[in-house]
Amino acid sequence: MNFHVLTLFPDMIRDGLNTSITGRAIKAGILNVNAVDIRDFSDNKYMKVDDYPYGGGAGMVMQPGPVCDAYESVVSNIGKAPRVVYMTPQGHRFTQSIAEELAKEEDLVILCGHYEGIDERALENIVTDYISIGDYVLTGGELAAMVVIDSVSRLVPGVLNNSESARMESFSDGLLEYPQYTRPVEFRGSKVPEVLLSGHHGNIDAWRHEKSLERTAKYRPDLYEEYKKEHPEEFEKNRKN
Ligand code: ADE
Repeated sequence: MNFHVLTLFPDMIRDGLNTSITGRAIKAGILNVNAVDIRDFSDNKYMKVDDYPYGGGAGMVMQPGPVCDAYESVVSNIGKAPRVVYMTPQGHRFTQSIAEELAKEEDLVILCGHYEGIDERALENIVTDYISIGDYVLTGGELAAMVVIDSVSRLVPGVLNNSESARMESFSDGLLEYPQYTRPVEFRGSKVPEVLLSGHHGNIDAWRHEKSLERTAKYRPDLYEEYKKEHPEEFEKNRKN
């Protein structure tokens, strides 16, 4: 899968993604991250790409020309017009199901803003999806873009090895992950739950499911209610809650 990131800070994107699992996939040629520097499309000798907002107010606004030109350079390089995601706190909240949808694309453009945002006309011209990674404001879209790229990448076939992908299924059932333990059996007076040492897979699965339910009810009551609606049979029979 090819990610084309339009940004004023291409090194941030490259440095952030060239390590760990995404870095391995980039080296293996399964992922390609093309960080496009919007400043390269400036129309002046100072390489300026922002200006004061019409109507007044604090901060600077990114001009539409360089943003659209950067996008059009991608379109002409790859010979098609891919989806363009603009990272913004004004967008739809990013979820696992949006990640699954984006992972089906062969090419994806991600547009990162800085300062007080991007001239609306550039957005109207090129953006297909507005995505927020949560209800807080970052200094720019780059970290948000990396969050999206990381979570989409791990859904691309071949990015995770078998043991990694088996381990990471949990969120897709709508519950939070159960707790994990490794050696030693006893740490600072606290023991690994007996059931995990039993070798009884049925009991282990049941215990883990129970812990997932407990955690979800405690930390994400919204997801818990959703899960109860989706799995009424599980709650009708033996459960008290
Ligand atoms: N840019 C600044 N804040 C953001 C957020 N919360 N999500 C996506 N992009 C952003």
